Amino acid sequence: MNMIAKILPLILVCLATLTADAQERKVNYEEAKVPDYRLPPILEMPDGTAITDANAWTTKGRPATLEQFRTHVYGRAPMARPSLRFKVQDHEDQALQGKARRRQVRLYFSDDDQGPQVNLLIYLPVKAARPSPVFLGLNFQGNHTIHADPHIPVTQSWVRNNKDVGAENHQASAEGRGRVANRWPVEKITAAGYGLATAYYGDIDPDFNDGFRNGVHTLAGEKAPAADEWGSIATWAWGLSYIMDYLQQDAEIDPKRIILMGHSRLGKTSLWAGAEDERFSIVISNNSGCGGAALHRREFGETVKIINNAFPHWFCDNFTDYSERVDACPVDQHQLIGLIAPRPVYVASAADDRWADPRGEFLSCVHASPLYELLGTDGIAQQEMPGIESPIFSTVGYHIRSGKHDVTHYDWEQWIKFADKHLGSP
Ligand code: GCU
Repeated sequence: MNMIAKILPLILVCLATLTADAQERKVNYEEAKVPDYRLPPILEMPDGTAITDANAWTTKGRPATLEQFRTHVYGRAPMARPSLRFKVQDHEDQALQGKARRRQVRLYFSDDDQGPQVNLLIYLPVKAARPSPVFLGLNFQGNHTIHADPHIPVTQSWVRNNKDVGAENHQASAEGRGRVANRWPVEKITAAGYGLATAYYGDIDPDFNDGFRNGVHTLAGEKAPAADEWGSIATWAWGLSYIMDYLQQDAEIDPKRIILMGHSRLGKTSLWAGAEDERFSIVISNNSGCGGAALHRREFGETVKIINNAFPHWFCDNFTDYSERVDACPVDQHQLIGLIAPRPVYVASAADDRWADPRGEFLSCVHASPLYELLGTDGIAQQEMPGIESPIFSTVGYHIRSGKHDVTHYDWEQWIKFADKHLGSP
Protein backbone atom coordinates (compact mmCIF):
# COMPACT_ATOMS: atom_id res chain seq x y z
CA MET A 1 0.00 0.00 0.00
CA ASN A 2 2.79 2.33 1.03
CA MET A 3 4.68 1.52 -2.15
CA ILE A 4 1.63 2.15 -4.33
CA ALA A 5 0.96 5.44 -2.56
CA LYS A 6 4.56 6.41 -3.23
CA ILE A 7 4.65 5.62 -6.93
CA LEU A 8 1.08 6.65 -7.79
CA PRO A 9 1.91 10.35 -8.21
CA LEU A 10 4.79 9.36 -10.50
CA ILE A 11 2.52 7.17 -12.62
CA LEU A 12 -0.02 9.99 -12.84
CA VAL A 13 2.64 12.47 -13.94
CA CYS A 14 3.93 10.03 -16.63
CA LEU A 15 0.40 9.48 -17.90
CA ALA A 16 -0.29 13.23 -17.98
CA THR A 17 2.96 13.82 -19.87
CA LEU A 18 2.20 11.11 -22.43
CA THR A 19 -1.30 12.48 -22.95
CA ALA A 20 0.03 16.02 -23.25
CA ASP A 21 2.63 14.88 -25.83
CA ALA A 22 -0.01 13.09 -27.89
CA GLN A 23 -2.21 16.17 -27.79
CA GLU A 24 0.67 18.47 -28.65
CA ARG A 25 1.14 16.59 -31.94
CA LYS A 26 -2.46 17.32 -32.95
CA VAL A 27 -2.32 21.00 -32.17
CA ASN A 28 -3.07 23.43 -34.97
CA TYR A 29 -0.43 26.08 -35.58
CA GLU A 30 -1.54 27.03 -39.07
CA GLU A 31 -3.56 30.19 -39.61
CA ALA A 32 -5.07 28.65 -42.75
CA LYS A 33 -6.55 25.84 -40.65
CA VAL A 34 -8.36 28.10 -38.19
CA PRO A 35 -12.02 27.12 -38.65
CA ASP A 36 -14.67 29.60 -39.78
CA TYR A 37 -16.26 30.78 -36.61
CA ARG A 38 -18.93 33.19 -35.47
CA LEU A 39 -18.39 34.98 -32.18
CA PRO A 40 -21.26 35.71 -29.81
CA PRO A 41 -21.97 39.41 -30.51
CA ILE A 42 -20.62 41.54 -27.69
CA LEU A 43 -23.38 44.12 -28.02
CA GLU A 44 -26.22 41.64 -27.67
CA MET A 45 -28.07 40.19 -24.70
CA PRO A 46 -28.16 36.39 -24.47
CA ASP A 47 -31.76 36.56 -25.85
CA GLY A 48 -30.59 38.49 -28.92
CA THR A 49 -31.75 41.98 -27.85
CA ALA A 50 -29.29 44.64 -29.02
CA ILE A 51 -27.36 46.63 -26.43
CA THR A 52 -27.42 50.18 -27.75
CA ASP A 53 -26.33 52.36 -24.86
CA ALA A 54 -24.09 52.36 -21.80
CA ASN A 55 -27.00 52.06 -19.42
CA ALA A 56 -28.30 48.88 -21.08
CA TRP A 57 -24.83 47.36 -20.82
CA THR A 58 -24.36 48.29 -17.15
CA THR A 59 -27.80 47.29 -15.94
CA LYS A 60 -28.51 44.27 -18.15
CA GLY A 61 -25.70 43.23 -20.50
CA ARG A 62 -22.91 43.13 -17.97
CA PRO A 63 -24.77 41.17 -15.27
CA ALA A 64 -26.05 38.66 -17.86
CA THR A 65 -22.60 38.15 -19.40
CA LEU A 66 -20.99 37.77 -16.00
CA GLU A 67 -23.54 35.10 -15.09
CA GLN A 68 -22.78 33.22 -18.31
CA PHE A 69 -19.05 33.15 -17.55
CA ARG A 70 -19.78 32.01 -14.00
CA THR A 71 -22.11 29.26 -15.15
CA HIS A 72 -20.22 27.95 -18.15
CA VAL A 73 -16.54 28.78 -17.73
CA TYR A 74 -15.01 29.68 -14.36
CA GLY A 75 -17.73 28.87 -11.81
CA ARG A 76 -19.14 30.97 -9.02
CA ALA A 77 -17.77 31.17 -5.48
CA PRO A 78 -19.98 29.11 -3.16
CA MET A 79 -19.31 31.34 -0.18
CA ALA A 80 -18.93 35.01 0.64
CA ARG A 81 -15.50 36.41 1.41
CA PRO A 82 -14.77 36.52 5.12
CA SER A 83 -14.45 39.85 6.85
CA LEU A 84 -10.90 41.08 6.78
CA ARG A 85 -8.54 39.79 9.47
CA PHE A 86 -4.78 40.31 9.28
CA LYS A 87 -1.52 40.73 11.19
CA VAL A 88 1.34 42.94 10.07
CA GLN A 89 4.48 40.82 10.37
CA ASP A 90 7.10 43.20 9.03
CA HIS A 91 7.31 46.97 8.62
CA GLU A 92 10.65 48.14 7.25
CA ASP A 93 11.18 51.62 5.84
CA GLN A 94 14.75 50.98 4.69
CA ALA A 95 14.47 47.77 2.68
CA LEU A 96 16.64 46.93 -0.35
CA GLN A 97 19.49 49.21 0.77
CA GLY A 98 17.10 52.08 1.30
CA LYS A 99 15.44 51.74 -2.12
CA ALA A 100 12.00 50.65 -0.91
CA ARG A 101 9.67 50.30 2.04
CA ARG A 102 8.74 46.68 2.74
CA ARG A 103 5.59 45.40 4.44
CA GLN A 104 4.62 41.77 5.07
CA VAL A 105 1.10 41.05 6.17
CA ARG A 106 -0.64 37.77 6.93
CA LEU A 107 -4.28 37.66 5.89
CA TYR A 108 -6.48 35.03 7.55
CA PHE A 109 -9.47 33.54 5.79
CA SER A 110 -11.10 32.43 9.06
CA ASP A 111 -10.97 33.00 12.82
CA ASP A 112 -8.50 30.15 13.14
CA ASP A 113 -4.83 31.22 13.14
CA GLN A 114 -3.94 27.78 11.76
CA GLY A 115 -6.61 27.94 9.02
CA PRO A 116 -6.09 29.04 5.40
CA GLN A 117 -4.05 32.22 5.15
CA VAL A 118 -2.15 34.22 2.59
CA ASN A 119 1.16 35.99 3.12
CA LEU A 120 1.22 39.30 1.33
CA LEU A 121 4.55 40.91 0.48
CA ILE A 122 4.48 44.62 -0.38
CA TYR A 123 7.25 46.92 -1.57
CA LEU A 124 6.50 50.63 -1.80
CA PRO A 125 8.53 53.50 -3.20
CA VAL A 126 10.78 54.86 -0.49
CA LYS A 127 9.32 58.35 -0.82
CA ALA A 128 5.74 59.07 -1.80
CA ALA A 129 3.86 62.35 -1.48
CA ARG A 130 0.54 60.51 -1.45
CA PRO A 131 -0.75 56.94 -1.22
CA SER A 132 0.96 54.83 -3.89
CA PRO A 133 -0.52 53.09 -6.90
CA VAL A 134 0.29 49.39 -6.67
CA PHE A 135 0.78 46.52 -9.10
CA LEU A 136 -0.76 43.39 -7.61
CA GLY A 137 0.15 39.94 -8.93
CA LEU A 138 0.18 36.40 -7.58
CA ASN A 139 3.43 34.45 -7.87
CA PHE A 140 4.03 30.79 -8.72
CA GLN A 141 6.66 29.63 -6.25
CA GLY A 142 6.49 31.64 -3.04
CA ASN A 143 7.27 35.24 -2.11
CA HIS A 144 10.93 34.43 -1.38
CA THR A 145 11.47 33.54 -5.05
CA ILE A 146 10.59 36.99 -6.38
CA HIS A 147 13.59 38.81 -4.87
CA ALA A 148 16.90 37.94 -3.19
CA ASP A 149 15.88 40.06 -0.16
CA PRO A 150 16.83 37.76 2.79
CA HIS A 151 14.00 39.16 4.91
CA ILE A 152 11.28 37.39 2.94
CA PRO A 153 10.47 34.13 4.74
CA VAL A 154 10.61 30.94 2.69
CA THR A 155 7.05 29.87 1.96
CA GLN A 156 5.79 27.09 4.20
CA SER A 157 2.99 26.06 1.87
CA TRP A 158 4.80 24.97 -1.27
CA VAL A 159 2.64 22.42 -3.04
CA ARG A 160 2.11 23.13 -6.66
CA ASN A 161 1.09 19.91 -8.32
CA ASN A 162 0.86 16.14 -7.97
CA LYS A 163 4.57 15.83 -8.51
CA ASP A 164 5.36 17.97 -5.50
CA VAL A 165 2.96 16.06 -3.30
CA GLY A 166 4.71 12.80 -4.09
CA ALA A 167 8.24 14.12 -3.91
CA GLU A 168 10.49 13.19 -0.99
CA ASN A 169 11.14 16.76 -0.11
CA HIS A 170 8.50 19.04 -1.46
CA GLN A 171 9.15 21.82 1.00
CA ALA A 172 10.44 25.05 -0.53
CA SER A 173 13.92 26.01 0.57
CA ALA A 174 16.15 29.05 0.78
CA GLU A 175 17.88 27.84 -2.38
CA GLY A 176 14.91 29.16 -4.30
CA ARG A 177 15.41 32.67 -2.97
CA GLY A 178 15.34 35.16 -5.83
CA ARG A 179 14.90 32.39 -8.42
CA VAL A 180 12.40 34.37 -10.50
CA ALA A 181 13.67 37.85 -9.64
CA ASN A 182 14.03 38.57 -13.37
CA ARG A 183 10.19 38.42 -13.59
CA TRP A 184 9.69 40.85 -10.70
CA PRO A 185 11.88 43.95 -11.18
CA VAL A 186 11.03 45.45 -7.79
CA GLU A 187 13.58 48.28 -7.95
CA LYS A 188 12.39 49.32 -11.42
CA ILE A 189 8.76 49.34 -10.25
CA THR A 190 9.39 51.33 -7.07
CA ALA A 191 11.72 53.76 -8.87
CA ALA A 192 8.83 54.49 -11.26
CA GLY A 193 6.68 55.45 -8.26
CA TYR A 194 4.63 52.23 -8.00
CA GLY A 195 4.32 49.68 -5.27
CA LEU A 196 4.30 45.93 -5.84
CA ALA A 197 2.13 43.55 -3.84
CA THR A 198 2.45 39.81 -4.34
CA ALA A 199 1.42 36.54 -2.72
CA TYR A 200 1.96 32.86 -3.49
CA TYR A 201 -1.07 31.49 -5.36
CA GLY A 202 -0.80 28.14 -3.54
CA ASP A 203 -1.62 29.94 -0.28
CA ILE A 204 -5.11 30.40 -1.71
CA ASP A 205 -5.45 27.07 -3.50
CA PRO A 206 -2.63 24.60 -4.24
CA ASP A 207 -2.59 24.05 -7.99
CA PHE A 208 -3.41 20.40 -8.50
CA ASN A 209 -6.45 18.26 -8.94
CA ASP A 210 -7.01 17.25 -5.33
CA GLY A 211 -10.80 17.10 -5.24
CA PHE A 212 -10.92 20.58 -3.69
CA ARG A 213 -9.72 19.42 -0.29
CA ASN A 214 -7.17 22.08 0.52
CA GLY A 215 -6.57 25.83 0.47
CA VAL A 216 -9.63 27.98 1.02
CA HIS A 217 -11.82 25.16 -0.31
CA THR A 218 -11.73 23.61 3.15
CA LEU A 219 -13.86 26.54 4.30
CA ALA A 220 -16.63 25.68 1.85
CA GLY A 221 -17.24 22.26 3.46
CA GLU A 222 -16.38 18.75 2.34
CA LYS A 223 -18.58 18.70 -0.76
CA ALA A 224 -17.00 18.94 -4.20
CA PRO A 225 -18.12 22.09 -6.05
CA ALA A 226 -21.33 21.87 -8.11
CA ALA A 227 -20.95 21.98 -11.92
CA ASP A 228 -21.30 25.77 -11.93
CA GLU A 229 -19.11 26.38 -8.89
CA TRP A 230 -15.51 27.51 -8.80
CA GLY A 231 -12.49 25.85 -10.26
CA SER A 232 -9.04 26.99 -9.16
CA ILE A 233 -8.95 30.06 -11.43
CA ALA A 234 -12.11 31.43 -9.81
CA THR A 235 -10.68 30.53 -6.40
CA TRP A 236 -7.44 32.43 -7.01
CA ALA A 237 -9.55 35.36 -8.26
CA TRP A 238 -11.62 35.23 -5.07
CA GLY A 239 -8.39 35.33 -3.07
CA LEU A 240 -7.26 38.37 -5.06
CA SER A 241 -10.45 40.15 -4.04
CA TYR A 242 -9.67 39.35 -0.41
CA ILE A 243 -6.20 40.84 -0.90
CA MET A 244 -7.94 43.87 -2.42
CA ASP A 245 -10.04 44.14 0.76
CA TYR A 246 -6.74 44.56 2.59
CA LEU A 247 -5.18 47.01 0.11
CA GLN A 248 -8.30 49.13 0.25
CA GLN A 249 -7.87 49.97 3.91
CA ASP A 250 -4.08 50.45 3.90
CA ALA A 251 -3.38 54.19 4.20
CA GLU A 252 -0.08 53.90 2.30
CA ILE A 253 -1.85 52.54 -0.79
CA ASP A 254 -4.23 54.23 -3.22
CA PRO A 255 -7.16 51.79 -3.64
CA LYS A 256 -8.27 53.63 -6.79
CA ARG A 257 -4.99 52.77 -8.50
CA ILE A 258 -4.55 49.03 -8.09
CA ILE A 259 -3.23 47.43 -11.27
CA LEU A 260 -3.82 43.71 -11.39
CA MET A 261 -1.32 41.69 -13.43
CA GLY A 262 -0.91 37.99 -14.00
CA HIS A 263 1.13 35.67 -16.18
CA SER A 264 -0.11 32.55 -17.95
CA ARG A 265 -2.68 30.68 -15.78
CA LEU A 266 -2.43 33.67 -13.46
CA GLY A 267 -3.11 35.93 -16.47
CA LYS A 268 -6.35 34.00 -16.99
CA THR A 269 -6.94 34.61 -13.28
CA SER A 270 -6.29 38.35 -13.44
CA LEU A 271 -8.83 38.74 -16.28
CA TRP A 272 -11.47 36.80 -14.36
CA ALA A 273 -10.71 38.65 -11.10
CA GLY A 274 -10.97 41.96 -12.98
CA ALA A 275 -14.31 40.88 -14.42
CA GLU A 276 -15.73 39.84 -11.04
CA ASP A 277 -14.31 42.74 -9.03
CA GLU A 278 -14.60 46.25 -10.42
CA ARG A 279 -12.25 47.71 -7.81
CA PHE A 280 -9.22 46.76 -9.91
CA SER A 281 -8.55 49.88 -11.97
CA ILE A 282 -6.38 48.29 -14.65
CA VAL A 283 -6.10 44.64 -15.59
CA ILE A 284 -3.06 43.13 -17.31
CA SER A 285 -2.96 39.70 -18.89
CA ASN A 286 0.46 38.35 -19.85
CA ASN A 287 0.62 35.34 -22.20
CA SER A 288 -2.70 34.11 -20.79
CA GLY A 289 -3.80 32.16 -23.89
CA CYS A 290 -6.60 29.61 -23.75
CA GLY A 291 -9.04 30.34 -20.91
CA GLY A 292 -7.51 33.82 -20.79
CA ALA A 293 -7.36 36.43 -23.55
CA ALA A 294 -7.31 34.09 -26.60
CA LEU A 295 -10.51 33.47 -28.57
CA HIS A 296 -11.54 29.84 -28.01
CA ARG A 297 -13.31 29.47 -31.34
CA ARG A 298 -10.05 29.87 -33.26
CA GLU A 299 -8.75 26.55 -31.91
CA PHE A 300 -5.18 27.64 -32.56
CA GLY A 301 -2.55 26.34 -30.12
CA GLU A 302 -4.09 25.17 -26.86
CA THR A 303 -7.82 24.41 -27.16
CA VAL A 304 -10.68 24.09 -24.69
CA LYS A 305 -10.48 20.32 -25.04
CA ILE A 306 -6.76 20.20 -24.30
CA ILE A 307 -6.97 22.52 -21.33
CA ASN A 308 -9.94 20.71 -19.80
CA ASN A 309 -8.12 17.39 -20.10
CA ALA A 310 -4.80 18.63 -18.75
CA PHE A 311 -6.10 20.91 -16.00
CA PRO A 312 -9.57 19.68 -15.04
CA HIS A 313 -9.47 21.63 -11.77
CA TRP A 314 -9.01 25.10 -13.31
CA PHE A 315 -12.52 25.70 -14.66
CA CYS A 316 -16.01 24.74 -13.51
CA ASP A 317 -17.27 21.30 -14.56
CA ASN A 318 -19.80 22.79 -16.99
CA PHE A 319 -16.90 23.99 -19.12
CA THR A 320 -16.14 20.39 -20.13
CA ASP A 321 -19.46 20.43 -22.08
CA TYR A 322 -17.65 22.57 -24.65
CA SER A 323 -14.50 20.46 -25.07
CA GLU A 324 -15.89 18.84 -28.22
CA ARG A 325 -18.10 21.73 -29.38
CA VAL A 326 -16.58 25.04 -28.55
CA ASP A 327 -19.09 26.77 -30.85
CA ALA A 328 -21.88 25.86 -28.45
CA CYS A 329 -20.35 27.81 -25.58
CA PRO A 330 -22.55 30.88 -25.05
CA VAL A 331 -19.52 33.14 -24.57
CA ASP A 332 -16.06 33.69 -25.98
CA GLN A 333 -13.11 35.52 -24.50
CA HIS A 334 -13.60 38.96 -26.13
CA GLN A 335 -16.59 39.18 -23.78
CA LEU A 336 -14.34 38.48 -20.81
CA ILE A 337 -12.33 41.55 -21.80
CA GLY A 338 -15.64 43.37 -22.22
CA LEU A 339 -16.49 42.64 -18.58
CA ILE A 340 -13.52 44.80 -17.60
CA ALA A 341 -14.77 47.78 -19.68
CA PRO A 342 -14.56 50.72 -19.44
CA ARG A 343 -11.49 50.18 -17.24
CA PRO A 344 -8.19 49.98 -19.13
CA VAL A 345 -7.02 46.49 -19.97
CA TYR A 346 -3.65 45.46 -21.41
CA VAL A 347 -3.01 42.18 -23.16
CA ALA A 348 0.59 41.11 -23.73
CA SER A 349 1.71 38.29 -26.04
CA ALA A 350 5.07 36.73 -26.91
CA ALA A 351 5.95 35.83 -30.50
CA ASP A 352 7.27 32.34 -29.71
CA ASP A 353 4.35 31.54 -27.43
CA ARG A 354 2.17 30.05 -30.16
CA TRP A 355 0.55 27.73 -27.60
CA ALA A 356 -1.18 30.86 -26.23
CA ASP A 357 -2.27 32.05 -29.73
CA PRO A 358 -0.99 35.66 -29.83
CA ARG A 359 -3.30 36.55 -32.74
CA GLY A 360 -6.28 35.15 -30.84
CA GLU A 361 -5.27 37.28 -27.86
CA PHE A 362 -5.11 40.38 -30.04
CA LEU A 363 -8.43 39.61 -31.75
CA SER A 364 -10.19 39.42 -28.39
CA CYS A 365 -9.10 43.01 -27.83
CA VAL A 366 -10.38 44.03 -31.28
CA HIS A 367 -13.75 42.37 -30.72
CA ALA A 368 -14.11 43.87 -27.23
CA SER A 369 -13.44 47.33 -28.61
CA PRO A 370 -17.02 48.20 -29.79
CA LEU A 371 -18.18 47.83 -26.21
CA TYR A 372 -15.35 50.03 -24.92
CA GLU A 373 -16.42 52.62 -27.51
CA LEU A 374 -20.08 52.37 -26.48
CA LEU A 375 -18.92 53.18 -22.95
CA GLY A 376 -17.20 56.35 -24.14
CA THR A 377 -13.54 55.27 -24.42
CA ASP A 378 -11.28 54.98 -27.44
CA GLY A 379 -11.27 51.17 -27.40
CA ILE A 380 -8.30 49.76 -29.29
CA ALA A 381 -6.27 52.16 -31.47
CA GLN A 382 -5.79 49.80 -34.41
CA GLN A 383 -7.54 46.81 -35.92
CA GLU A 384 -4.47 45.20 -37.49
CA MET A 385 -2.12 43.22 -35.35
CA PRO A 386 0.88 45.44 -34.51
CA GLY A 387 4.45 44.41 -35.28
CA ILE A 388 6.85 43.07 -32.71
CA GLU A 389 7.56 45.54 -29.90
CA SER A 390 5.15 48.19 -31.21
CA PRO A 391 2.90 48.62 -28.17
CA ILE A 392 -0.57 50.14 -28.33
CA PHE A 393 -1.54 52.27 -25.35
CA SER A 394 -5.22 52.99 -26.05
CA THR A 395 -7.75 52.02 -23.33
CA VAL A 396 -7.54 48.50 -24.68
CA GLY A 397 -3.75 48.14 -24.87
CA TYR A 398 -1.67 45.41 -26.44
CA HIS A 399 1.83 44.37 -27.34
CA ILE A 400 3.57 41.39 -28.80
CA ARG A 401 7.26 41.13 -27.98
CA SER A 402 9.90 38.79 -29.32
CA GLY A 403 10.82 35.73 -27.28
CA LYS A 404 9.15 33.00 -25.32
CA HIS A 405 6.39 32.51 -22.77
CA ASP A 406 7.74 34.54 -19.86
CA VAL A 407 7.58 37.89 -18.03
CA THR A 408 10.37 40.26 -19.04
CA HIS A 409 11.58 43.74 -18.17
CA TYR A 410 10.26 44.85 -21.55
CA ASP A 411 6.76 43.78 -20.46
CA TRP A 412 7.02 45.69 -17.19
CA GLU A 413 8.28 48.82 -18.95
CA GLN A 414 5.16 48.84 -21.15
CA TRP A 415 2.82 48.22 -18.20
CA ILE A 416 4.36 51.12 -16.29
CA LYS A 417 3.91 53.42 -19.32
CA PHE A 418 0.33 52.20 -19.72
CA ALA A 419 -0.42 52.85 -16.03
CA ASP A 420 1.22 56.31 -16.20
CA LYS A 421 -0.96 57.14 -19.17
CA HIS A 422 -4.26 55.93 -17.75
CA LEU A 423 -3.89 56.64 -14.03
CA GLY A 424 -1.75 59.76 -14.18
CA SER A 425 1.86 59.80 -13.10
CA PRO A 426 2.33 58.36 -9.61
C1 GCU B 1 0.31 25.30 -19.50
C2 GCU B 1 -1.13 25.51 -19.90
C3 GCU B 1 -1.44 26.98 -20.17
C4 GCU B 1 -0.99 27.83 -19.00
C5 GCU B 1 0.44 27.55 -18.66
C6 GCU B 1 0.94 28.23 -17.38
O1 GCU B 1 1.13 25.57 -20.59
O2 GCU B 1 -1.40 24.71 -21.02
O3 GCU B 1 -2.82 27.15 -20.38
O4 GCU B 1 -1.19 29.19 -19.30
O5 GCU B 1 0.61 26.16 -18.43
O6 GCU B 1 0.16 28.73 -16.60
O7 GCU B 1 2.14 28.18 -17.15
